[in-house]
Amino acid sequence: MQNLLSKISLAPLQGITDYYFRNAFQTHFKGLDEVYTPFLRLDKKKTLKSSQIKDILPENNSKIRVIPQILTNSVQDFIYLSNYLADLGYEEINWNLGCPFPMVAKRQMGSGLLPYPEKIEHILEQVVNTIPIKLSIKMRLGYENEEEIYKILPLLDKFSLTEIIIHARIGKQMYKGNANPDAFEKCINLTKHQLSYNGDIISLESFQQLNKRFETINSWMIGRSAISNPFLIEEIKKGETCNKSQKLERFSEFHSDLYEQFSNTLSGSGHILSKMTHLWEYFSQSFSNSRKVYKAIKKSNSIRKFEENIHHIFNKEDWIA
Ligand SMILES: Cc1cc2nc3c(=O)[nH]c(=O)nc-3n(C[C@H](O)[C@H](O)[C@H](O)COP(=O)(O)O)c2cc1C
Repeated sequence: MQNLLSKISLAPLQGITDYYFRNAFQTHFKGLDEVYTPFLRLDKKKTLKSSQIKDILPENNSKIRVIPQILTNSVQDFIYLSNYLADLGYEEINWNLGCPFPMVAKRQMGSGLLPYPEKIEHILEQVVNTIPIKLSIKMRLGYENEEEIYKILPLLDKFSLTEIIIHARIGKQMYKGNANPDAFEKCINLTKHQLSYNGDIISLESFQQLNKRFETINSWMIGRSAISNPFLIEEIKKGETCNKSQKLERFSEFHSDLYEQFSNTLSGSGHILSKMTHLWEYFSQSFSNSRKVYKAIKKSNSIRKFEENIHHIFNKEDWIA
């Protein structure tokens, strides 16, 4: 039986989905049920960066249900962060077993822990009944290959988890190549936990195909395509595209809101421009002449030039997504 009331979450994207972005997104677009923070990790001094502390302060996160994500392979850090986040009032945290970056993976964290199912089991044995907060996991299919997840999932049955989000790629792929829904399908019968599908939901049609294929799945996570086309989640929830004539204006209001917040809080034009350029790497994809649009943003070497380019883009280019 297909569940029409699917839950849709915004994926964590380090450097993009900070609280400014999450709040502006929730203010201007509909359909989003929850968001995950980019991963939090204790540094050598066992502290979080001040920007990370700010990112999870309850007063900065009152608009939508936020689930903080942690990255660690240390039981001690896991318990410390769980207590810290529970004290802030969070009800649930998410454990990152997906990060593919070599600096992380080679230290057996993120997707680098996936080839070691016994280590994952050992960590969970020590934390699950100790931490005062619900836990979910976000994982890839494996680091080297998808056989890894087939070994891990049965081991997770004995733990209390709210869900397991699977980004259907392996770590070695980084963000390249296609997601692998066939491997995700095999996972469905290997776990008693609720699974959430993540990877390459790029349009209403691609969601509808996956939704039809995975009848028992009612939790979905979307990342890059929800950044480049913030109407996507709303369209998926409605089952139809948003009013095309209003899209550019709605996006422009969202953009102004974000830009104003960054201008008011970030120090120095370099910082503001690099933040906006990072975002436009995604936003430009929804504009006609997307390469030209991104090039113009990248070449903006002053606030004045950036604002001129934005004005030009919103007046001359079409919204095509
Ligand atoms: C720039 C960037 C940063 C990311 N940061 C995180 C992160 O902090 N934690 C995490 O679990 N996944 C992270 N991801 C992965 C996404 O959450 C998501 O799993 C992936 O992009 C696949 O989903 P999509 O095809 O819908 O984008 C990141 C991805 C990108 C492109």
